[in-house]
Amino acid sequence: MSLNKAPKNNVFYRNQNWYYPMIEKGEGIYLYDADGNKYIDGCAGSAVANIGHGNKEIAAFTKEHMERIAFIHLSRWTVDSIEKCAQKVAQWAPGDLNHVYFVSGGSESTETAMKMARQYFVERDGNKSTKWKVISKWNSFHGNTIGSLSMTGITGRRKIYDPMLINMPKIEQFYHYRNPWGCETLEETSIKAAEALEIEILRQGADNIAAFITEPVVGSAAPGVHPDKVYFKMVREICDKYDVLLIIDEVMAGFGRTGKKFAIEHFDIIPDIVTCAKGMSCGYTPIGATICTDKVFDTIMVNGSGHFVHGHTYAGNPLSAGIANKVIEIMEREGYVENAAKQGAYLIEKMQDLYKYPIVGEIRGKGLMIGLEFVKDQDTKEPFDVKENIKGVLTNKCLEEGLVIYPGGGSVDGVRGDHCLIAPPVNITKEEVDLLFDKLEAGIKKTCEEMI
Ligand SMILES: Cc1ncc(COP(=O)(O)O)c(C=O)c1O
Repeated sequence: MSLNKAPKNNVFYRNQNWYYPMIEKGEGIYLYDADGNKYIDGCAGSAVANIGHGNKEIAAFTKEHMERIAFIHLSRWTVDSIEKCAQKVAQWAPGDLNHVYFVSGGSESTETAMKMARQYFVERDGNKSTKWKVISKWNSFHGNTIGSLSMTGITGRRKIYDPMLINMPKIEQFYHYRNPWGCETLEETSIKAAEALEIEILRQGADNIAAFITEPVVGSAAPGVHPDKVYFKMVREICDKYDVLLIIDEVMAGFGRTGKKFAIEHFDIIPDIVTCAKGMSCGYTPIGATICTDKVFDTIMVNGSGHFVHGHTYAGNPLSAGIANKVIEIMEREGYVENAAKQGAYLIEKMQDLYKYPIVGEIRGKGLMIGLEFVKDQDTKEPFDVKENIKGVLTNKCLEEGLVIYPGGGSVDGVRGDHCLIAPPVNITKEEVDLLFDKLEAGIKKTCEEMI
């Protein structure tokens, strides 16, 4: 029986066990609720509102664009805003990731990548191609639609849908803090995790594998977890060796969040396909994209049938594309990518002091995509029992302090393992970082007082 705390109205809320405060407005990094409370949006929703709330430039652009055109169907027309946006996104994306297929969100972008990889091999090798499986990882999140959930490695989100999911092979994550190989350095864990890909390709048969998908920096499944550079070097080589496409899921990490335009730039390799959403429009309207290289595009669209058998009604929505283009323009003009790198480094440095609280197990991340993992015992890394609901207690304590964090769980064994993501808007100032830190520390301190 649920706690029935959600407001009683016609909305089918996500979680009836949660009381939903009414938000009246947002401004910069702050949210204001109807009871007069002010919060720092310490996770930008879910790493979405990267340029902050209430941006007047976006609002003005939206009005002008909406008055001009509402909707065109991308199967018949083109429009200036999608062309400009695609050009900008391609300029931001590394290497020859030049071709931008628009969608409306993260799950659609990974689902699209999965189908794009399959069609690539059918176009190249004919209908008899057996390459279709996408290898993914435990402790990963790629979305909640059936295709994207099939690639997702969060047990809690998969369990009840398990009979409906596609059988996509899963390998271990580069989760050094809890690596199963007994590795002592991140480099060793990264090598083992990359070797696991080769082992799985051989086990499944390379003839059956179309692609490998991975986040560059892990989001909700194990926030802030990332590998050493050697991981992506090895993964790129393994994919090339076995004729497997490499898909990098930048839905959370992309568009400046980690202090680079795309997080894969930290690792100096060029993927075949990149998926993105969230920070692309910073939540002003829904949008996402699946970006591919010349090789993938040419095989399907130039030398192949010329028709990607896919598409959604709202894909390439003119306003969303226009807003994404505007967001990128603002990010460039204001230097927000550089700011994410600078403030992220400052915050993570400051956070080292939090290890003095016995529940803080690990702090990790890149730029302003920072994860904290909580443990019962810092030495043994023993997690809390789920019933203790430490992530819930911490979330509430932080809210009382006026800070919104993004909690999650299940990273240890699919059930246990509490963590949270700190990912404020990337236009945050140093003074605001200090304020966020003080509130986070107060929330952790109060949680310790209650739990220990
Ligand atoms: C890495 C990653 N991929 C895919 C998704 C799914 O995106 P959406 O919720 O927009 O469908 C998310 C959402 O959090 C994500 O973080």
